[in-house]
Amino acid sequence: MDKKLLEEFNKQITREFYSSYLYLGMVTYFEEIGLNGLSTWMRMQTQEELMHAMKMFDYVCERGCTVSLDTIDKPDTKYDSVQHVFAETLKHEQQVTSWINNLYAVARNVNDNAALGFLQWFINEQVEEEKNVSDILAKLKYVENRPAGILFLDKELGSRPAPTPPAAQ
Ligand code: FEO
Repeated sequence: MDKKLLEEFNKQITREFYSSYLYLGMVTYFEEIGLNGLSTWMRMQTQEELMHAMKMFDYVCERGCTVSLDTIDKPDTKYDSVQHVFAETLKHEQQVTSWINNLYAVARNVNDNAALGFLQWFINEQVEEEKNVSDILAKLKYVENRPAGILFLDKELGSRPAPTPPAAQ
């Protein structure tokens, strides 16, 4: 694999692990305020990010390259409200989308068609990730911090099932 492309893959692997850790920080907030359903939803998100990281990790290995792991930043754990958490989640997912798009652009520049095919899965995944969080934010707008509405959402989102590992490439 091209050196620059490998560097970008390695950076993205660390970012996916960071995403998992960022969401785990949000789990600590939901636990602190006693919203177990939202804690469950965010725990599933944490697991999903680990799967993203490992899918990319495995791909780099499959290409005969060495993964280089970097430091994972300390995540925020202080939030003002449920809305604040999901607004930050959407912001982060939008940032991830732009990182994936950048990785795709680097693969295109070096004409690595196999990497482009692999990355298409992540591009589609980001559409889903942003939509899921946007839908929750839309519901939260109706709720406007009213306890009954928050508790209803807590119950609804708490039924999120564990993510299934993405198929191997
Ligand atoms: Fe791995 Fe939520 O993007």
